Amino acid sequence: MQKIKDIPKVDRPRELFIQKGADALSKSDLLAIILGSGIKGKNVRQLSEHIIRRFSKNFLTITVDDLLEISGIGQAKALQIISAISLVKRFYEENKDRDVVIRNSNDAFALTYDLGDKKKEYLICLYLNARNVLIKKDIVSVGLLDKTLIHPREIFYPATKLNASSIILVHNHPSGNSIPSEKDQRIVARIVQAGEIMGVPVIDFIIISENKHYSFYLNLKDSDNGLDYVSDGIQTTLFDLLEIDKPLYNANIQKINRPYPLFLKARADTFQLHNRRYLGNKYKLLGFIEDIVIEKCNSIKSFCDIFAGTGVVGERFNKPEIRVISNDFLYSNYVCLRAFLGTSINVRDIAEKIHYLNNLQVEQDNYFSEHFGNTYFSLENARKIGAIREEIEKIEKIEEVKNILICSLIYAIDKVANTVGHYDAFRKDLDMLQPIKLLVPDIDYLNNGNNEVYKENANILIRQITCDVLYIDPPYNSRQYSDAYHLLENVAQWKKPTVEGVAKKMDRSHIKSLYCLKNAIQAFDDLIKNANCKHILLSYNNTGDSKDGRSNARMSDNDILQILLNKGEVEIFERDYKAFSTGKSNGDGNAERIFYCKVN
Ligand SMILES: C[S@@+](CC[C@H](N)C(=O)[O-])C[C@H]1O[C@@H](n2cnc3c(N)ncnc32)[C@H](O)[C@@H]1O
Repeated sequence: MQKIKDIPKVDRPRELFIQKGADALSKSDLLAIILGSGIKGKNVRQLSEHIIRRFSKNFLTITVDDLLEISGIGQAKALQIISAISLVKRFYEENKDRDVVIRNSNDAFALTYDLGDKKKEYLICLYLNARNVLIKKDIVSVGLLDKTLIHPREIFYPATKLNASSIILVHNHPSGNSIPSEKDQRIVARIVQAGEIMGVPVIDFIIISENKHYSFYLNLKDSDNGLDYVSDGIQTTLFDLLEIDKPLYNANIQKINRPYPLFLKARADTFQLHNRRYLGNKYKLLGFIEDIVIEKCNSIKSFCDIFAGTGVVGERFNKPEIRVISNDFLYSNYVCLRAFLGTSINVRDIAEKIHYLNNLQVEQDNYFSEHFGNTYFSLENARKIGAIREEIEKIEKIEEVKNILICSLIYAIDKVANTVGHYDAFRKDLDMLQPIKLLVPDIDYLNNGNNEVYKENANILIRQITCDVLYIDPPYNSRQYSDAYHLLENVAQWKKPTVEGVAKKMDRSHIKSLYCLKNAIQAFDDLIKNANCKHILLSYNNTGDSKDGRSNARMSDNDILQILLNKGEVEIFERDYKAFSTGKSNGDGNAERIFYCKVN
């Protein structure tokens, strides 16, 4: 008998495993490692081969007694084998109903590694949902892979039927070399482009040979960003990595320049939701937006303003028969949205508290005056703001009332801030010297019965809501709202953080918007794919370019159109408009656009 030590070291199961990994071993070699040693007359490899041959069909159901029938196998070896089988079965049972999430090329490879043994060429498609969970694994073709034989229809027709959000393709090279050939590269480019047009992006194309695999994704991606297909919440696709030119889309732009009257002024000693300076607010465009909704969306029952800012757009649709969903990820906006759209309290009862806060006697410095006195505010106003905010914290335990009082303070602050309407900087000459005065909000609380108000990342919230009309008004450029309104966040949260720099900003790293970054388009794509609604209105302004580049739009018309056209029919409406801006970069002659999409 040949003893195991007579086999050259490189061919022994354990050495093979160490050098090439478990996938390179045969079943009998794997069993040999579990058994560890042979029996009289059979080395461990011969013994394993014998067991695998004898029970090949029903290996997973063998019993201890079956194994004891093999001469030389005692109870210890039989228990070793059955325990290994039971352990695998147990894990399999526990996991079989769980979602199979494909995070990276290794996960995809684990589902398709058996292609390495095939003698013919296969093309396999993994269809994934929006969370990268496997919906289906399918064979697309068997036989030579050829671009003339593979039609994108064979891949993308099932993808649309399965409602797949993305796909991964896996192909094998029986030759043993996993490096992509020129033919592979041409096929990949063609399929990736088709995926982009169909709105089902190709995340990866993997080539498997006997013991190796090659991932286009891994080889194209900047490895500093990790191995996973999704990083920082963004799904990168081969289309982005291959930098293929996008197809060009056309849509007619309809100009609307009808005049729209503005609302009545607030009653004395009250304030309205729009009485505040806010970058990108749509107060003066409400008529334009409403006209499109009236013309395109029949008898709506719900309206979602998912980047609500001041909330004026949602408020325009706040009627007893319409459920308004209003959301903004800034806390300072959330408290105001709650106050105006999410409260059932009659605010007249709050007038007394506002009167009390206005009459607080303040002489001492506090957190707010120490940091913001003689900068954004006169010292007296800063002391008063700090004292009022502290008092609200002390006297008010009912959250709904507290929101209204903080909202009243935020609006009062805006009236006495020595700024051009945001807190990136304060003006040199302190000329806002009138004393701060809180007013009572003019809230139509009777309409608020069904409304929902959230403080969520829009891309998370979108997965949890349904609505008739989804109104999307994201930031257009690289200016982060958390930078512009850090001071109001500070007041609203009242955690008294340390502040830095001339502009006295607190840490805002947790409230950065993806829509201000380079990959805004991926965030938008994700938002639209997950939108459960009948109509989409997107406000987006691509028409102005600034010298410093900070005001330039993050998404091109073509990108927007491509994403919306995958969801339904699209029309563009445009209106000449001079936005409230920082005063520097947005010149005259800008136009404001609404992309309207009737969802299929
Ligand atoms: C252009 S403004 C909206 C203006 C609003 N329509 C109005 O009339 O006041 C964009 C808003 O989106 C919010 N925002 C930015 N990124 C967000 C995100 N990922 N999720 C939720 N809100 C976000 C900002 O705080 C900002 O208030």
